[in-house]
Amino acid sequence: MKIQQNIPLKKYNTFGISTNAKRFVSINSLKELKEIITLEKDVFLLGGGSNMLLTTDIEKLVLHLNLKGIIVNDTENEVVFVTAEAGENWHEFVVWCISQNYGGLENLSLIPGNVGTSPIQNIGAYGVEIKDTFHQLEALEIETGKIKIFKLEDCDFGYRNSVFKKELKDKYIIINVTFKLTKKHHKINISYGAISSLLENKENPTIKDISDAVVAIRQSKLPDPQEIGNSGSFFKNPVINHNSFKILQKKYPEIPHYIVSENEIKIPAGWLIEQCGFKGKRFGDAGVHTKQALVLVNYNNATGQEIYSLAKNIQQKIKDTFNIDLAIEVNII
Ligand code: EPU
Repeated sequence: MKIQQNIPLKKYNTFGISTNAKRFVSINSLKELKEIITLEKDVFLLGGGSNMLLTTDIEKLVLHLNLKGIIVNDTENEVVFVTAEAGENWHEFVVWCISQNYGGLENLSLIPGNVGTSPIQNIGAYGVEIKDTFHQLEALEIETGKIKIFKLEDCDFGYRNSVFKKELKDKYIIINVTFKLTKKHHKINISYGAISSLLENKENPTIKDISDAVVAIRQSKLPDPQEIGNSGSFFKNPVINHNSFKILQKKYPEIPHYIVSENEIKIPAGWLIEQCGFKGKRFGDAGVHTKQALVLVNYNNATGQEIYSLAKNIQQKIKDTFNIDLAIEVNII
């Protein structure tokens, strides 16, 4: 293990922001991770760098988690348990599962990031969240160096949320995640409008067909971080109560919405942002994506501060216009 000094982070974050790590070390095994944690506990964890906006240099020791490997435990008839190490690229893992005909993750194709960070915000898209196939994860407790197993019920998964964003924030390092996947796919999910329309001519869509449809939809709406820096949805879709919704609907009869529960209504933040005129707007190298207003982009050399101040302007405008507080989904560093 070699601790390097002053490493540029541009290629380690999907926003493509140029800041530096004062000290940086690549971790390639559990042994290395345990060793480094005994030396230093106040560390900065870097996985795929897909859900962060870097606004400053990083003073803490940056641990770049590179643990790789996939293990299959195939002892049951219809299901299979697949464990992936934290440093596996999420989409490559999904594609590998599909190639083995293991179902359950196909709707989550093409999400940037690594396996190890997927449970932290319970990644989700097109009607599926990882909590739906999550079996357990193993994580290293930073304070003690001990490994703990977290089952589904320990993770407190919610919409873009988990225990690792709340009371256990910065306390554990996830080292692997096990998914319970299907070998016979009785419950494929094509409920999401855009998927069902793409698949309407397929009689019995396979998990590969679903993955291909998701990839096509994502590619048509979301910018490829290799081409334009971004972190996917920058904000969460706000959930408001029934009264607030009725007031808004009177003023904006066309407002899109999803009923979450009797008194909870989710509004697509992309719609709110678009209504405020931000869609496709560019301020220097910081901008709002042309095809999906929920995604902020770095056209090349925007600083994290510039993206952050654009985000704050958007939040203010949404508050003034709709009286809705838009929460940022991405971690601001
Ligand atoms: N809309 C607009 N203008 C826009 C964008 C969206 O009016 O510029 C409205 C449209 O009415 C559209 C609706 O919002 O029908 C929903 O849009 P979309 O299907 O793109 O989904 P979303 O709610 O904007 C969420 C996730 C995405 C995920 C998609 C599909 C959040 C914060 N985002 O976006 O997740 O891919 O659903 O399931 O929940 C991510 O987290 O990085 C991400 C991309």
